[in-house]
Amino acid sequence: MKISQEMQSAINRQMNNEFYSAYLYLSMSARASEMNMNGFANWFEVQAKEEFYHGEGFMKYLIDRGGKVAATGIEAVEMNWTSIEEMYQASLEQEQVVTADIDAMVALAHAEKDFATVEFLNWYVREQVEEEASASEILEQIREGDSAPCVLFQIDKRLSKRKLEKPEIW
Ligand SMILES: [Fe+2]
Ligand SMILES: [Fe+2]
Repeated sequence: MKISQEMQSAINRQMNNEFYSAYLYLSMSARASEMNMNGFANWFEVQAKEEFYHGEGFMKYLIDRGGKVAATGIEAVEMNWTSIEEMYQASLEQEQVVTADIDAMVALAHAEKDFATVEFLNWYVREQVEEEASASEILEQIREGDSAPCVLFQIDKRLSKRKLEKPEIW
């Protein structure tokens, strides 16, 4: 079954969103580095690379289905965060948007009876649970530690250990 024109557009759009996420997290990594928060910078850099793989996953899937990849422009990042807390707030918001977009794609795939795409998207549905959970967990830890700045340094130290694991998407 050939992929529909509408699904093809949705996949191209989501590929773009994932690459935007990569750019967003890489920008946060830069800001964190400028603040000498190298553990947070590492966490955001790893996250950026993960997002690159998410985008590439959509690209490869579209090719497998005989679609045409469209690499349109990636939106600029407004880097006006003034704290690590604001970055995690923005991260959580971005992931909530991505979750809603993926859910809408799953609904479209069901409506089109495109079960291969449903199966493909299931990986992203599960991944979004993890993405929202990890952003909100770190955000809560930062907020709980508000009165004790040393907490921020403890979290920074912990996040310096995050390593990239290449996801097996499809
Ligand atoms: Fe993603
Ligand atoms: Fe993830």
